[in-house]
Amino acid sequence: MGIPHFPFLPAVIILCYFMLGHCVASPKKTSCTVQDGRADCSRLSLQAVPPDLPRNITSLDMSHNRLVGIPTPSLTPYQGLLHLNVGFNSITRLDQGLCQTLSLLQTLNVEHNEVHVLETGDIIHCTNLTGLNLGSNRLKLKGEPFLVLQSLKFLDVSQNKLLAAKLGSQPQLPSLENLNLALNIFTTLKKDDFFFLNDSSLQFLNLSSVSLKTLEPGCFEPISGLHTLIMDKSNMGTLVISKLCSQLSGTAINALSLQKMKLVTLTKTTFTGLEKTNLTSLDLSSNGMGKIENGSFQWLSRLLTLILADNNIKHLTKGTFEGLKSLKKLSLSKALVKSHTSSTPIIDDFSFQPLSALESLILQRTSVRDLTENTFTGLTSLKELDMSWSSYSSLKNLTKKTLASLAGSPLRVLNLTATAIVQINPGAFCNLGNLTTLLLDFNFIKQTLTGKEFEGLGQIQEIHISNNRQSVNLNSTSFVNVPSLRVLTLGKSLTVSALDKDLSPFRSLSNLTFLDLSNNNIANMRENLLDGLVNLKVLKLQHNNLARLWKSANPGGPVLFLKGTQSLLSLQLDSNGLDEIPVEGLKGLSNLHDLSVANNLLNSLKDSIFDDLNSLKVLRLQKNFITTVRPEVFKTPMSNLSVLVMDKNPFDCTCESILWFVTWLNNTNTTSVPGLSDQYKCNTPLAYFNRSIMDFDTLSCKDMAPFQALYILSSTVVIMLIVSALLVRFHGWRIQFYWNIVINRTLGFSDATVEEGREFEYDAYVIHAAEDASWVGKRIASLGNENCKFCLEDQDSVPGMSQLESILENIRKSRKILFVITERLLRDPWCTRFTAHHALHQVIEDSRDSVILVFLQDVHDYKLSQSLFLRRGMLRPCCILNWPVHKERVPAFHQKLLIALSMTNRLQQ
Ligand SMILES: *[C@@H]1O[C@H](CO)[C@@H](O)[C@H](O)[C@H]1NC(C)=O
Ligand SMILES: *[C@@H]1O[C@H](CO)[C@@H](O)[C@H](O)[C@H]1NC(C)=O
Ligand SMILES: *[C@@H]1O[C@H](CO)[C@@H](O)[C@H](O)[C@H]1NC(C)=O
Ligand SMILES: *[C@@H]1O[C@H](CO)[C@@H](O)[C@H](O)[C@H]1NC(C)=O
Ligand SMILES: *[C@@H]1O[C@H](CO)[C@@H](O)[C@H](O)[C@H]1NC(C)=O
Ligand SMILES: *[C@@H]1O[C@H](CO)[C@@H](O)[C@H](O)[C@H]1NC(C)=O
Ligand SMILES: *[C@@H]1O[C@H](CO)[C@@H](O)[C@H](O)[C@H]1NC(C)=O
Ligand SMILES: *[C@@H]1O[C@H](CO)[C@@H](O)[C@H](O)[C@H]1NC(C)=O
Repeated sequence: MGIPHFPFLPAVIILCYFMLGHCVASPKKTSCTVQDGRADCSRLSLQAVPPDLPRNITSLDMSHNRLVGIPTPSLTPYQGLLHLNVGFNSITRLDQGLCQTLSLLQTLNVEHNEVHVLETGDIIHCTNLTGLNLGSNRLKLKGEPFLVLQSLKFLDVSQNKLLAAKLGSQPQLPSLENLNLALNIFTTLKKDDFFFLNDSSLQFLNLSSVSLKTLEPGCFEPISGLHTLIMDKSNMGTLVISKLCSQLSGTAINALSLQKMKLVTLTKTTFTGLEKTNLTSLDLSSNGMGKIENGSFQWLSRLLTLILADNNIKHLTKGTFEGLKSLKKLSLSKALVKSHTSSTPIIDDFSFQPLSALESLILQRTSVRDLTENTFTGLTSLKELDMSWSSYSSLKNLTKKTLASLAGSPLRVLNLTATAIVQINPGAFCNLGNLTTLLLDFNFIKQTLTGKEFEGLGQIQEIHISNNRQSVNLNSTSFVNVPSLRVLTLGKSLTVSALDKDLSPFRSLSNLTFLDLSNNNIANMRENLLDGLVNLKVLKLQHNNLARLWKSANPGGPVLFLKGTQSLLSLQLDSNGLDEIPVEGLKGLSNLHDLSVANNLLNSLKDSIFDDLNSLKVLRLQKNFITTVRPEVFKTPMSNLSVLVMDKNPFDCTCESILWFVTWLNNTNTTSVPGLSDQYKCNTPLAYFNRSIMDFDTLSCKDMAPFQALYILSSTVVIMLIVSALLVRFHGWRIQFYWNIVINRTLGFSDATVEEGREFEYDAYVIHAAEDASWVGKRIASLGNENCKFCLEDQDSVPGMSQLESILENIRKSRKILFVITERLLRDPWCTRFTAHHALHQVIEDSRDSVILVFLQDVHDYKLSQSLFLRRGMLRPCCILNWPVHKERVPAFHQKLLIALSMTNRLQQ
């Protein structure tokens, strides 16, 4: 029937989970590990010691294996062993061979085994042992097994179901200091039980969880040197405790721990027996103690420390602490608590008055009905009062009266963390002239601090007001009364406008070294906020909203609020939405060690913003949008760095963005860069996307130099081409003109041979339309001189010849034939049909390349060929001239014309 078993199923599953989890969680070791002469062979299911360990090991851990006996033969190779742990096995006997083999052994741990009978000779050779742990076995002692352990200092025989504390019948163990008898089942301490320790110097005795019922008189006499006795969790009852105390009288007992003993009530007589002792420390925590009779502690006049933590005390009265005149430290943490069933505990006036030596009073996590004007009266030595996480209704509204009872205390530290304070009224701390540290974190303070609250705190060095729900406002006088302040924390406490004041609240704090303004959503503050804080070393501004203040677009320019803080060592600006750091933003911070600007929106950083940070050791820029890491920005701050944290940025893995950084990372051996291998990823280009920046191939950038040269060269050529093209386009004629002149000056006018010229009377016969005669006369004929003669139809007709013959004759006498081409010429039938025809005929007949065309107008090639049977392409380029539109080009035209005239007439092949 499966159903009845179901309720156990979850338990079984959980059990399995834990059993498996134990093995799965830590990757299973398969062999021993050896380090610094220590071999760890634990948890390997071994049945013997592995033979292949280094011979010179001094320590061997064989715990949690499957040994059934001390594996003496397999230990033979390791004779240098000083420490052997065979705990958590199934060993049933210790035998002589062990220390014969390991004669140097100093500590032996056999806890959690099944050792049963231990006889006189079993550990007879272990004379060098100083520590022996036989806890959690089934020891049955026969004879004097420990007699030979002359050097033993520590012996643990706890949890062995021992029926007596007696471990021998004759004095032995002269060196024993620490004996653990906890968790055994004897209930009586007989007079001679500790006789075997008569010659020892026992100091620490642990009898935890031993439920003593009877203590015979004189039972501690043999161990009167006892310093510390631990009786935790031993269920004894008040009566037996007072007997115990009587027996401790006359010992050197110094510290007594009585925790978790269900000691619900302390009576006047409980500790009577301790009167003559020098007890300095008493721990009574976790006893569920509800009542302490007046005078219970009157016997403990030498007590220095009393711990009453975790109890349920309902009422402290004037008599509770009577007689504790040496007490320096009293812990009442969670000792006064309010539960559903009980009322709020009460502290009577003058309850602490007997504690005139008390220096530290811990009231952490307590709940008390009220603080009166005399609650703390008489604590004339009190230096520290801790009421953190407590509930005292009168602390809600701190007035002059609330802490008045501390007027006589030279209090240094007042811890009011989390005490539900809502308001601090003027003079609330005026009696605490010696206070150096005031802790007001985790409260609900909601007010404008005007400065009066801190009146009288003449020695104050630290004020902590963090985590006050952002409801504290400041004004210019907030801290005028505390100029000695060194530490001020206001994290997560200020209203949004608290710092937006013309006069800075901090201006009087010239000794301030630590200022925490983090987590306040501050968006506005003035450039002068930190003026005068010449000693400020640590400034925390993370989790605010300062982005606008550092934008170059901010009206009036960026707010350079760090300009006065030259001593700064540590600056935190994380999570501020910053997308810009102004060039002057971090100027002058040459002492800065630690800069943290993580979790912002920084992308491209301006050159030299970090240039003053030459002492920087730690730089944190993780989680920004930084793509490039250029030397112009980072060379200075990274020159001396110990730690760089810059992961989770979208790095651009190209030569110009990242080459310098990767080279720096590869070469740095003084800077630690956590997570470098897996947290620094390329975002661009695609080829490197999501790969580690350390994969970036720096060699690929080495080939850049020739490419760069080529690039420069080719772009230069292109630019030059463009410039010359433009030059030619707009000034080509001028260039050509000067070129011609130069050529002509050096090489002479003409390529025609001298003889060629002599055959002709004229240099050129000019054919033009009648209407162009005046232009020709003015522009062409005027060029004529001895060297260059033109034949014009009208002037130079041969006398006595018909016009026709005269033309033919003149053409024959001319070296060149020059057409002045206009639309008119082409339309002139006479001219075209006859003169041109003949001229060309002549040209062809003489095989002369002697035609020059001068265009006064732009005439289409087609028309040209129609009327003159000529095409531009038929002539040499230099023989085709255009009359320039621009006046300044006329000389160039003339020059060209002269050249054309001087060209040879021989046909170019
Ligand atoms: C043990 O011997 C090894 C060589 O076998 C040597 O490297 C090691 O340093 C020695 N260790 C000690 C603690 O002497
Ligand atoms: C105890 O150890 C010392 C060295 O520390 C050694 O000289 C001495 O012989 C050892 N005693 C025995 C009995 O092995
Ligand atoms: C307590 O201490 C004083 C001084 O230190 C000393 O004289 C006295 O013997 C001690 N008492 C005991 C019981 O140890
Ligand atoms: C605190 O006490 C003062 C006067 O003692 C009073 O004016 C003020 O209202 C009180 N504040 C609160 C929050 O109760
Ligand atoms: C003040 O109390 C808090 C909370 O209990 C504690 O964490 C802090 O250490 C205490 N500070 C001092 C200076 O005692
Ligand atoms: C501060 O404490 C010293 C003793 O440590 C005392 O002399 C002085 O008067 C105290 N000052 C104030 C303002 O309470
Ligand atoms: C500071 O604030 C308080 C309360 O708002 C106000 O009374 C006081 O005049 C202010 N002081 C200055 C100097 O502004
Ligand atoms: C500031 O500190 C110096 C040196 O520690 C000290 O002499 C001076 O009195 C302090 N200033 C104030 C206003 O407390």
